[in-house]
Amino acid sequence: MKNIILCGGNGTRLWPVSRTLMPKQFVKLFNDQSLFQLTVERNNKVCDSNFIISNTEQYFLAIDQLEEDKKYNFQNAKFLLEPVGRNTAPAIALACFDLDPNEIVLVTPSDHLIKDEYEYEKGLSEAKRLAEEDNLVTFGITPGFAETGFGYIESELPLAPSLDKDGEQVRGFAVKAFHEKPNFETATKYLEAGNYYWNSGMFCFKAGVFLEELKKYSPEIYEASKTAYEGRVSLEEKQMRIKMDDMLNIPHDSIDYAVMEKSKIVKVIPSDIKWSDVGSFDALAEELPNDENNNFVLTKKQTELIDVEDLIVVDTEDALLISKKGSSQKIKERVVRLKKEG
Ligand code: GDD
Ligand code: MG
Repeated sequence: MKNIILCGGNGTRLWPVSRTLMPKQFVKLFNDQSLFQLTVERNNKVCDSNFIISNTEQYFLAIDQLEEDKKYNFQNAKFLLEPVGRNTAPAIALACFDLDPNEIVLVTPSDHLIKDEYEYEKGLSEAKRLAEEDNLVTFGITPGFAETGFGYIESELPLAPSLDKDGEQVRGFAVKAFHEKPNFETATKYLEAGNYYWNSGMFCFKAGVFLEELKKYSPEIYEASKTAYEGRVSLEEKQMRIKMDDMLNIPHDSIDYAVMEKSKIVKVIPSDIKWSDVGSFDALAEELPNDENNNFVLTKKQTELIDVEDLIVVDTEDALLISKKGSSQKIKERVVRLKKEG
């Protein structure tokens, strides 16, 4: 199994720690390891190589972090660099064009936390069996609240286990529909219904099966990505770049809208893997130590908080964020405003 690692996003919701030049996945937040390093280390246990789809700016950050330790297996990494991002459907397609159509791939983001690796590996071996049967496999997380920033996977009722090539049961359900980023009212209904999962943003399938589905449901992305892949420039053995003009010709879209919402061959594996997309400081505060008044402080300076509680304090060299817990999602709008104001 090959791991396609998506590594093109900026994570503005973790400003000021995550910046355009130092996106969230490269910040060393966990015992001197970044989410990118944790992702590579975790997936190296189950995949034989990493295929990192990234952009030119992040390429050097990624190499530096992979070279830090043998366990990241830099020798087995290959890079495909996009001059500009066109979202995840093209990024995954470009990688799949480079692989044998029968190769089973595990597509993962580079900026998520998974704490139960035993369950994770168990889910992956089930996913592989379903991918061998030409399914697009997703990993479903039991939803905790009506999050509007996630995709929701609606499983077919009654729940019936799937079968692998030997006719043996696999813990993976047929998917009735995939709903990307619903509004709050709809998300609340999904939560009450009980047969919906959050989409964890990881996928497992044969490279060729994904490309066939993309061709069927988003032919423009398929064709433009194919042309862009064919026009690639290989600079070194393990690094290729897509040309700017070709990249700009690819329509923007995510795998979720371009394929998953439309495909009829989606399966979901319920995954109790202690997953977090670390999409905000509130989410990060749940993963790292807090003080006795439930304040989360991230800084290298000696910091004392007196008679305040439930605060998030993040201090970097040139910027300081202070937020009430529960409000840290609002930072995204502020960063957009800051960028506009220059
Ligand atoms: N190479 C590359 N190029 N990577 C990209 C690009 C791109 O153009 N755009 C996004 N990525 C990477 C991001 O860095 C991230 O690791 C991953 O692809 C997913 O993109 P996000 O932009 O973070 O997606 P999202 O959070 O809005 O939604 C996805 O993830 C949710 C779970 O966190 C969807 O799959 C949702 O359905 C899902 O619930
Ligand atoms: Mg995300």
